[in-house]
Amino acid sequence: MPVDGTPLLELRGVKAAYEKVEVLHGIDIVVPGGALVAILGPNGAGKSTTLRVMSGLMKPTAGQVLLEGFDVTGTSAEQLAETGVCLIPEGRGIFPNLTVRENVLMDTYTGHRHARDLEEIAFERFPVLRERSDQLAGTLSGGEQQMLALSRALSTDPALILLDEVSMGLAPMLVAELFSVVRELTTTGVTIVAVEQFADVVLEFADSVVVMAHGGVRLAGTPRKVARELTAAYLGGSKR
Ligand SMILES: Nc1ncnc2c1ncn2[C@@H]1O[C@H](COP(=O)(O)OP(=O)(O)OP(=O)(O)O)[C@@H](O)[C@H]1O
Ligand SMILES: [Mg+2]
Repeated sequence: MPVDGTPLLELRGVKAAYEKVEVLHGIDIVVPGGALVAILGPNGAGKSTTLRVMSGLMKPTAGQVLLEGFDVTGTSAEQLAETGVCLIPEGRGIFPNLTVRENVLMDTYTGHRHARDLEEIAFERFPVLRERSDQLAGTLSGGEQQMLALSRALSTDPALILLDEVSMGLAPMLVAELFSVVRELTTTGVTIVAVEQFADVVLEFADSVVVMAHGGVRLAGTPRKVARELTAAYLGGSKR
């Protein structure tokens, strides 16, 4: 982790398009190392696309992606994953027809970890998963599935976790619980970018907040600053 103030991740003037249709129109986002940065915004704002660019799944049509100050624009998702960038996509990165234990152990096949270590890491962080280790992942509650997805991400020793609506379908109380776990992860040095719908929870837990709309960044700053600037109209009326 750089100590000289170089952000862990930075997007500079990033544009991105599906086929010929541009959906990100030049966005700047700075993610300091060890921070929890939240991205808010209405449906279709470009939040998931932004995470895809950050993870290397999508190549920007213009602009730069910097990782620890190095230009990684156009680097493949596989290569970025090797350097510790981990995307948990919308709709949970788990295998519903495998047991919890099998999900946790999936990553022994891809890499360098021993089964025992992976189980220990996962079950220590999320004790409820140990109790459910022989249950099919698809039969876990929504919150438990998110914990499983997170524990799978953590087993790869990520430097940067990109979470796309990890709270989807969860009751507000569970969202807060999940985010306190996510918050705690940053104390171990992991950096997290979380796309979220729940403005309240994000404003409580995040170090900084980016508000997107129509493929651009509309607001960015500390939760306090963003909360102040977010209009009642945005909070009340932008989501249907
Ligand atoms: N695979 C795709 N092909 C074509 N257009 C896409 C594709 N994925 C997204 N888009 C378009 O790009 C724009 C941004 O989509 P994106 O998924 O990034 O939004 P989002 O902010 O994540 O929205 P949501 O809150 O609904 O998840 C939208 O207009 C969407 O229709
Ligand atoms: Mg999305």
